[in-house]
Amino acid sequence: MHPLAPEEHGASGPRTLGEYERAALERLAGPVADYLLGGAADEHTLRANTGRFADIRLAPRVLTDVRHLDTSAEVPGIRLEHPVMLAPTGAHRLFHPRGELATAEGAAQAGAAYVVSSYSTTSFAEIAAATDGPLWFQLNPLPDPEFQERIVRDVAALGARAVVVTVDTPVPGTRNRQRWNGLDLPEGLTYPMLGALAGLRPKAGAIHRPALDAGFGWADLARLIAACPVPVVVKGVLRGDDAARLVELGVAAVWVSNHGGRNLDTAPAAIDALPHVASAVAGRVPVLLDGGVRRGTDVLKALALGACAVLIGRPALCGLAVGGAAGVRHVVDVLRTELEMAMALCGVTTVREVTTDVLWPVREREWV
Ligand SMILES: Cc1cc2nc3c(=O)[nH]c(=O)nc-3n(C[C@H](O)[C@H](O)[C@H](O)COP(=O)(O)O)c2cc1C
Repeated sequence: MHPLAPEEHGASGPRTLGEYERAALERLAGPVADYLLGGAADEHTLRANTGRFADIRLAPRVLTDVRHLDTSAEVPGIRLEHPVMLAPTGAHRLFHPRGELATAEGAAQAGAAYVVSSYSTTSFAEIAAATDGPLWFQLNPLPDPEFQERIVRDVAALGARAVVVTVDTPVPGTRNRQRWNGLDLPEGLTYPMLGALAGLRPKAGAIHRPALDAGFGWADLARLIAACPVPVVVKGVLRGDDAARLVELGVAAVWVSNHGGRNLDTAPAAIDALPHVASAVAGRVPVLLDGGVRRGTDVLKALALGACAVLIGRPALCGLAVGGAAGVRHVVDVLRTELEMAMALCGVTTVREVTTDVLWPVREREWV
């Protein structure tokens, strides 16, 4: 277990990820809160991401020796202490003056790998120089393939253990609560990883964004994999057929995600898509999941349905907004501790041995 530093998290401080969200809301200006918590359109998928976790029942198992728990897991390039990682999210300096540097510090203290977004307000070089913790770099396909290949080579040289290509955003979703590109960064903040692309503005009324390559396809991904010196992980997959084709193409891991409910409203909850993807991948590469993970029991359910690790987006930003590095660390510690409790109560002692045995059988469950 991970005792919390009392000076940072007194009895009145947030104790759960839900409490972190409420505390963050009290601190953040309206547009930043909408950027953080908003989803696409009517937010059905956003709500389903958390709601569908709650629909799954766990099956406690008794009289098992659970004195020693092993939460370690493996993802491309990293042996993890526990299966909770930080998903890529943009513009951390909107949430805390130290931005991504505070996130990286908190993640390293909590033993969580951190996926740095290409919409970071700190360069990957600065983040990598400031942390010993494991990092991946996330890339949205860019309309300039040469610039893109230079970025992946640069971040690999700086220590990124993998490059994550986000494939679910050829155009952004209908983010009604967030004005896409309209959340103008305050004076002095930039997106250094995007270079000149960051300054391009969309045409009025256009659905396409100048910094996103809406034409990026299978052949482009194959070229990027060939050019990339580190493993390539693909983020934003919900369909089994896409997942199978990605494995054949040579990706190092498939990441189930609906972008936190921010892209295609009424797409399935991430946890509902996971069994389809896991079955298509059939153990050939690791499967990751993000979307709606708020409790240790959610982590256990994702592991049971085929994920080897999960990632959190909004909860880490809430931790950052509330407590900087200490907040990020505490959010991860809370999830990890809750996961350990859930494992012990379900009678499993290692993350790698978690199977559907921990799930209460439900006849109408889609994945049975
Ligand atoms: C404020 C915010 C910014 C995000 N920025 C990115 C990004 O730059 N690149 C990306 O691939 N995903 C981005 N995402 C999606 C997250 O990586 C992740 O898929 C999602 O937040 C997971 O759901 P959760 O917030 O319920 O944990 C962002 C999400 C949020 C909430």
